[in-house]
Amino acid sequence: MKKLIEAAEIQQAVHKLGRDIEDWYQGEPLTILGVLTGSVILLSDLVRAVELPIKIGLIQASSYRGATTTRGELVINESLIPNVEHRHVLLLDDIFDTGHTLQKLIPIIENRRARSVRTAVLLWKEERTEVDFAPDYHCFKIPNEFVVGYGLDYNDEYRHLPFIAALEDHEITG
Ligand code: IMP
Ligand code: MG
Repeated sequence: MKKLIEAAEIQQAVHKLGRDIEDWYQGEPLTILGVLTGSVILLSDLVRAVELPIKIGLIQASSYRGATTTRGELVINESLIPNVEHRHVLLLDDIFDTGHTLQKLIPIIENRRARSVRTAVLLWKEERTEVDFAPDYHCFKIPNEFVVGYGLDYNDEYRHLPFIAALEDHEITG
């Protein structure tokens, strides 16, 4: 695989994201809602880099199945979502690719009467985006390559890597 973003660059960017989030919410309480499973590493670093009264929540959404890099049907599991009524919610995902995942999740949270809903991602594959909105926060724009590490997986592998790397064609079997 080909390393794209070093671990130290990610840590710097996550701390910058923390400052930007503090600037926006100005001391107001916030629920950071991580999208399982890809956001868990980012979630755990980010919540320790934001000085606000924070609650952590989780929602599960998956569109990839096994050893493939093409999207399948999006399956959302709402059973883990905490009460977000009257709360500011920041939906946090690993990557904004086509954008369909966050596009589907935003109204689900709005319908639970959140006070506001914004979105943050580590990576944005801008040339793949198919929706008419952009994430409110992103750390890095990346080219159209399949990437792993820092939470992102291929067939559930590589999530634990502290850096972001692009898989070579021969490493992708599906
Ligand atoms: P979207 O709905 O197309 O924006 O896709 C978002 C989801 O697809 C993310 O939460 C990731 O789980 C997954 N995904 C998209 N691109 C990649 C990639 O390059 N590597 C690993 N997962 C990816
Ligand atoms: Mg994901």
